[in-house]
Amino acid sequence: MATLDDPVSVGGVEFRNRLYRAPLLECAGNGPDAVDRLVDELTPAAESGVGCIHQGATLVRGEGGCAAPNMTRVHDPAFVGSLGALTDAVHDQGGHIFVQLEEGGLRSMETWHAQYRDRHPDLEQLAVSRPPWQLRLLDRAGFIDLTPRVLATDEVYDLARDFGRAAERAVEAGYDGVHLAGANMGIIQQFLSPFYNRRDDEFADGVRFLELVHDEIRDRVGGVPLVTKVPAETAAPPTVRRHLSLADGVAVASRLADAGFDGLVPVECSVVWDMSLVRGAFPDRAWAAEDMQADYRAAFGGRLRARAVATLNWLQAQRFRREPGWNARFCRRVRERLHAEGHGDVAIFCEGGVRTREQCDRLLGDGPARQAADLVGMGRPFYAEPRLGARLLAGEDALCRSCNNCTVPQAAGADGRCRTPSIVRERGKLAAAGAYETDENSAE
Ligand SMILES: Cc1cc2nc3c(=O)[nH]c(=O)nc-3n(C[C@H](O)[C@H](O)[C@H](O)COP(=O)(O)O)c2cc1C
Repeated sequence: MATLDDPVSVGGVEFRNRLYRAPLLECAGNGPDAVDRLVDELTPAAESGVGCIHQGATLVRGEGGCAAPNMTRVHDPAFVGSLGALTDAVHDQGGHIFVQLEEGGLRSMETWHAQYRDRHPDLEQLAVSRPPWQLRLLDRAGFIDLTPRVLATDEVYDLARDFGRAAERAVEAGYDGVHLAGANMGIIQQFLSPFYNRRDDEFADGVRFLELVHDEIRDRVGGVPLVTKVPAETAAPPTVRRHLSLADGVAVASRLADAGFDGLVPVECSVVWDMSLVRGAFPDRAWAAEDMQADYRAAFGGRLRARAVATLNWLQAQRFRREPGWNARFCRRVRERLHAEGHGDVAIFCEGGVRTREQCDRLLGDGPARQAADLVGMGRPFYAEPRLGARLLAGEDALCRSCNNCTVPQAAGADGRCRTPSIVRERGKLAAAGAYETDENSAE
């Protein structure tokens, strides 16, 4: 029976254990301090013993497609080369690091961030097809601002090539693997989802796009592990009849295993970026934070709109209450199908609401509930405790209570950090007591 401490191999690369830091946007951008910020944010996890770190989504192109404030772009070889300082810092601590690649498509900031739209009036969003009527309605009502450009067939090939080029640059900079942002409403999910994809060319089959991206990456960087998130749109609102069911998600995963992906991250989500991805409490404190009000007004287009988003946020928090390990059932279904089809070597990564060491071992163990995953990840808990690995690997539980006080400020461009005083205090006490030290650190 596997436990969190056991090593695991993904695409031929051996991680020291089965704990990974799930991707969280760093908002580090590409400025002169970008690399230092990434080192500061990601290295503590490696120091604390985490097996693999998945950097937050980075953009494959130099323009457009930016889904959230200040995302890092990986189009420029000189900049990506400088990320060697990050990969070296992680490797020096015995960890591994994957780059995550993304293009935002209709989720790009100019559609939902009012101030960004004002500053970039001419930006168009890459679209798989004409946007669905629900989004067109929101556009007409003034809640979002769509200027889509539907990709011609040859442009889809160009985009896949850009994913390949970005992967090649990242691997040259020392990244150990490539993770595709296949969910969270990025363009990959838009290809996969019947909500978005109404094409009549070969890419009407959305998996075809991922197969093409796979081939573009493999042609350039051969044996480097390749992982993608796989969505099942089970949290889609009732007005959305065309969406990926759980069975569809499992079928997509099966085809991706056939295509040669080394790892899959099954996630139950909606057709848009919403709280189904970050289930937990309504972040009262975050919405009320005095220092964030101007940012919220800028992002959501004024006081009234910000209030409307907060109300929607509250409603969603009622619908998606804190659910420990909510992706376990999807992971288990995918894992069973892949094993039955002879793809037992494809690693399943499970994340989403996992907070205790016991949950981790149960997801990895071969007990009565049947093994769900080969690796277990956490996202928000690393904001609360950047050196969380040390405590989890010592058998303890994460402090994070999924209160989401980190989430809304981060969507408006603030640093990713825990803003809940009781948790910050508790972390301070634990740090003072040496709870985040590992054998390696204390030997120094
Ligand atoms: C602020 C924030 C940013 C995120 N950024 C990304 C991202 O860049 N790429 C991605 O695939 N998932 C992203 N996620 C989703 C996380 O990887 C993870 O799936 C989610 O937070 C659930 O895990 P948790 O309950 O352990 O936080 C983000 C989540 C949060 C809260």
